[in-house]
Amino acid sequence: MMFAVLTMVHIADSKEQLDSDTETLLTTARKHLCQFSALTFQQMDGLNTVLPYGLRKIAALRTLTTESTAVFIPFRAQEISHSGGTYYGQNVISKNMIIANRKNLLNGNSFILGVSGSGKSFTAKREIVNQMLAGNDDIILIDPEREYSSLVKAMGGEIIHISATSPNHINAMDMNRDYGDGANPVILKSEFVLSLCEQLIGGQNLGAKQKSLIDRCTASVYLKYLQSNFKDKPPTLQDFHAELLKQDETEAKEIALAIELFTSGSLNTFAKPTNVDVNNRLICYDILDLGKQLLPIGMLVVLDSILNRITQNRAKGKNTFIFIDEIYLLFQHEYSANFLFTLWKRVRKYGAFCTGITQNVDDLLQSHTARTMLANSEFIVMLNQASTDRVELAKLLNISDLQLSYITNVDAGNGLIKVGSALVPFADQFPRHTQLYRLMTTKPGES
Ligand SMILES: Nc1ncnc2c1ncn2[C@@H]1O[C@H](COP(=O)(O)OP(=O)(O)OP(=O)(O)O)[C@@H](O)[C@H]1O
Ligand SMILES: [Mg+2]
Repeated sequence: MMFAVLTMVHIADSKEQLDSDTETLLTTARKHLCQFSALTFQQMDGLNTVLPYGLRKIAALRTLTTESTAVFIPFRAQEISHSGGTYYGQNVISKNMIIANRKNLLNGNSFILGVSGSGKSFTAKREIVNQMLAGNDDIILIDPEREYSSLVKAMGGEIIHISATSPNHINAMDMNRDYGDGANPVILKSEFVLSLCEQLIGGQNLGAKQKSLIDRCTASVYLKYLQSNFKDKPPTLQDFHAELLKQDETEAKEIALAIELFTSGSLNTFAKPTNVDVNNRLICYDILDLGKQLLPIGMLVVLDSILNRITQNRAKGKNTFIFIDEIYLLFQHEYSANFLFTLWKRVRKYGAFCTGITQNVDDLLQSHTARTMLANSEFIVMLNQASTDRVELAKLLNISDLQLSYITNVDAGNGLIKVGSALVPFADQFPRHTQLYRLMTTKPGES
């Protein structure tokens, strides 16, 4: 039970108008079984009560149950308005803008979920534009559908095409001074080379002997680079291959043979020195043409290159936003899934913010790794959902039936947004006659 007093001030140009308005208000209230009374000789007290000082000069209290009290707005609508945030849509209940700042949350990890065509990539693009214009944080995105190119180009970003035939190369062995998070970077890199070899050799796991050999060769190919204090050219997989051949053990020769296809063979795109500008503020890895053979290792190399960049940015005190569209592609392969999982756990300390985008909520929730990642993300945008996914998400994130209605059969760009513990329905209708819309749309014929 609550004590409440509802005070209302209305003004008019003349006494006659004022009296007539008063009459109208009283009638309207009466229609709803509610009795207003006019504050005769108490106008000043009424005004002081209404103004936001926190004073209550009117001593007429009524009792209301919490349910009735909750009807009066500020108590009912949850708002998200962080300082220094960017726009994420309009709050459907209060009609206020949703301004969120992922830097204010416990971690900045995020997921965007929804059926195909619900506006997931569009939401990501809107955020990219806002981040590009609002701050000077770096933005990296993985684009498996080649749908971000025009936007990235328009914003002056760099597009890196990754495929067996592309002239763009990323050296899988690139490593900067800050890679190791304070420890010896070669140790962490050696772990990466091990996963890479395991992925290259495929199927059977590596034995202890092979692992030792790989570790030994990794350490020796980096020796010169470390001695030059990271100023020399970093080694490549070709150097690593040559180093393996120098070893006496027959196992080393076997490993060398197994990875040859990727070092000097036709799939050697990651065995050449990096020849793209990975220092642009906005980088888009276009992986559409990455064939089936190269996809698992391509993803590993790209993720590692991203890790390189965020560790470097951390040393500079810079934030990094990472967007991964169609993230289920990465969950399909054990190594990239694990890599992603560790990335998700570690990026907070690096001042980075990951966003995973997928329509396959069901698949996502089947995988234990992905489920944990979702449960540990503080920022989740849910757009229109398929019925089975809706039920699962409701269980995982404690969404009420009423809230579920905001992700059931809604238009593209509308849904529920979870920011920390707040869960708010949002709507966003991006104006369609703008150049930005043309850069962001994926509807055939509109761009
Ligand atoms: N906020 C919005 N305002 C206006 N139109 C929108 C909005 N969001 C999405 N749309 C429209 O919906 C279309 C599809 O959106 P989008 O490309 O983001 O789908 P998607 O969820 O990424 O689908 P897929 O899973 O197939 O990639 C856009 O091209 C755009 O026309
Ligand atoms: Mg998409």
